[in-house]
Amino acid sequence: MTIFLLCVFAYMVGSISFGLLLTRAAGLGDIRAIGSGNIGATNVLRTGNKKLAAATLLLDAVKGTLVVLFVRHYAHGGVFLAALAVFLGHLYPVWLGFKGGKGVATGLGVFWGVCWPLGALCCALWLAVAATLRRSSLAALSAFAISPAAAWYFQSWKTALLALIIAALVFWKHRANIERLLAGTEPKIGQKA
Ligand code: G3P
Repeated sequence: MTIFLLCVFAYMVGSISFGLLLTRAAGLGDIRAIGSGNIGATNVLRTGNKKLAAATLLLDAVKGTLVVLFVRHYAHGGVFLAALAVFLGHLYPVWLGFKGGKGVATGLGVFWGVCWPLGALCCALWLAVAATLRRSSLAALSAFAISPAAAWYFQSWKTALLALIIAALVFWKHRANIERLLAGTEPKIGQKA
């Protein structure tokens, strides 16, 4: 399989918007019309359905991990580009007019696949910040902020570069959250936006 086809495959898997599909299947309507309008687990939680939010978190993360593991085992190279492609698929899905999620779960899932200590550390930091400060976006921004340095420490400059690109995109996607955090108006986890 050429690297191009691998990237198309990875992008397609990444563009499966589980938050949107699960909330629709549960009869909760269009998640994009609820809360922050994001298709991610934090916003799915605002519907009040914790199981659906947990399933969204898990599936959005697992798609990132599985694509990386698949490419590593069945292709000769291309892990870096496939990791980026699955992440970009989640952020910019063709099916939703390129308006996708903020990349937290999928980015963490990619980290688990590329370098599991990196995934574990970022998830631990996410959990610690979320548990203490109760802001999902702040937890995500903290976890991704340390990811390039952690990737360099645990693996290589190449993984650090991947983490840097992913972190930059996560920050870009969270620009409205950053404004709300600075203004002190960012809702707590589970609170309606
Ligand atoms: O995972 C996305 C989270 O960091 C923020 O989500 O819906 O509050 O913008 P939301």
